Amino acid sequence: MRHVTDVDHAELARALAAVVGPGHVLADDELRAPFQTDWTGRFAGRAALVVRPADGGEVARVLAACHERRIPVVPQGGNTGLVGASVPRGGEVVLSLARLGALGPVDRASGQVEAGAGVTLAALQSHARDAGLDAGVDFASRDSATLGGLVATDAGGTRAVRHGTVRARIAGLEAILADGTVIDRRSGLLKDNAGYALDALIAGSEGTLAVVTRVRWRLVARLPARVAALVPLGGLGEAAALLAVLRPALPSLEAIEFLLDDGLQLVMDHLHLPAPVPERRPAYVLVECAARADPTEELAEALGAAGVQDAVVATDTAERERLWRFREAHTEAISAAGVPHKLDVGVPLERLADFAARVPAAVAEAAPGARTILFGHLGDGNVHVNVLGAPPGDPALDEAVLRLVAACGGTISAEHGVGVAKAAWLHLIRPPGELAAMAAIKAALDPRGILNPGAVLAPGSAAPPR
Ligand code: MLT
Ligand code: ZN
Repeated sequence: MRHVTDVDHAELARALAAVVGPGHVLADDELRAPFQTDWTGRFAGRAALVVRPADGGEVARVLAACHERRIPVVPQGGNTGLVGASVPRGGEVVLSLARLGALGPVDRASGQVEAGAGVTLAALQSHARDAGLDAGVDFASRDSATLGGLVATDAGGTRAVRHGTVRARIAGLEAILADGTVIDRRSGLLKDNAGYALDALIAGSEGTLAVVTRVRWRLVARLPARVAALVPLGGLGEAAALLAVLRPALPSLEAIEFLLDDGLQLVMDHLHLPAPVPERRPAYVLVECAARADPTEELAEALGAAGVQDAVVATDTAERERLWRFREAHTEAISAAGVPHKLDVGVPLERLADFAARVPAAVAEAAPGARTILFGHLGDGNVHVNVLGAPPGDPALDEAVLRLVAACGGTISAEHGVGVAKAAWLHLIRPPGELAAMAAIKAALDPRGILNPGAVLAPGSAAPPR
């Protein structure tokens, strides 16, 4: 594998232009710029070229051309990734899937719909709702995040507690291997156990095994009656106990999230909003229920059984959205305050409070003066550790947090992916035998190592390119 040199740059540009048309090979500094820096501003690199194919066939030919020339490729969807995996590290071709925006008709009998990798989550949601169904996945960057990226990272979001992560939504997909081979698993058959489940393997592989070009998405029932409640708590220690009462009592449970008071204050300052609760407390749980018939009574009873008396309940859409704003705006409020280190981790629920209590000290030791903000998806044990005030390139605090996660029996990546941000620490939770199996799979599917090099598997941990 090599980077594009000045000598072969023009030749590659011509070869790619022959596939996608000259207007979709971006060589100009200004045109390349938006594809080269990630959403947080922490990860950036120079792309040799940006190429924008129109469909899976063109993606296959672009990859074949890069494979033949041993040119590394970074696939990119909505560029909302948070682990540095969708922007170049230096000299790669950025393969933008944004033009793969075809959205097929909803097949109501199977409850499935086919969509191109460049379709945004918001577009899928609205398309599904028009057909009386729902996407079953939601998160704050819905207007920009695209389905190819969702599949590539096995994204989670706020509804995973009910519907699982994106992998559970995949009825099939089309993906292209490094050499241009097309994997077409779009039969939509729920039961199809013939041979290895390549689609399941590609989901969550972060563009290192194949490039996802189309998805056959399993929709879920649309549940129009909704209620949300913000529950103030004395601390996260109370959250797991609350969850233990609510989960079995609420068949309508759709989301259960947590935030802490300093994060709430940051959001209030950022959005110029008053507090959503009459009395401030150290922690808050945001719960949403969804059903065909109004779940308000069910939620009130469950909260009563948990001894909660001071929940702020939102029954209409505007009020619910107002409560959600305090949770969802954490990401933008944090980024408005600086360039964060973002560590998306998961810990077993019984360790969550202990982990959260120990994180600030671990960060302070590695990065004195830095500020830690925690929030996340309580029902999934998924904690978003955000650190402001540390140099973007300093890995010490990342390592400290990830070591603490491993010590708590957790995972270093819950829903954002390993990317390049955490590849060096995969060994903390995956033993050598498993890492060797991953490297063997990578070498088998991408023998020249051109697909998203440096993401998931740290440089040097994969087999040398053939
Ligand atoms: C969220 O849960 O809001 C997203 O994962 C984004 C983030 O962690 O900043
Ligand atoms: Zn999240």
